[in-house]
Amino acid sequence: MARSSAKAAIATLLTVISFFLPGGLTHHRSPTTYIVGNEFGWDLSIPADTWASDKTFYGGDILVFRYDYQLDNMLVVNQTGYETCIPNEGYIEYNTGEDMIQIAYGGNYFIGTATPGDCWGGMKLAINALAPDNKD
Ligand SMILES: *[C@@H]1O[C@H](CO)[C@@H](O)[C@H](O)[C@H]1NC(C)=O
Repeated sequence: MARSSAKAAIATLLTVISFFLPGGLTHHRSPTTYIVGNEFGWDLSIPADTWASDKTFYGGDILVFRYDYQLDNMLVVNQTGYETCIPNEGYIEYNTGEDMIQIAYGGNYFIGTATPGDCWGGMKLAINALAPDNKD
């Protein structure tokens, strides 16, 4: 009798703990949205890596790439594509002129390629996004 009520008490306790645990461990944060290049957008006015250099990014943050879709585009590449300015196999092309990309935790690489030389001219962006839980 005593043993079974102790069991019941433990079961109740575990239920209570598991009810509160997710809320207690989850940081409530909303992703930050950035316009790449600020008012200049995704072009050669500001090298994108320079634009990013004073910012801290987290997985889940959103980048907006703005540009003239008739002149430029934006490719999501891997580190090799970023370093060589040559789109790697499996790159993803965006060309709406207003592309919203949610960055992942870890390395995120973007280049522009529609105009020859634009990648080397500054339309390349490498972001190492920190874990979302580190925010605030
Ligand atoms: C990038 O993708 C290419 C093609 O799939 C692959 O050969 C290369 O190793 C990749 N680079 C990295 C750093 O993953």
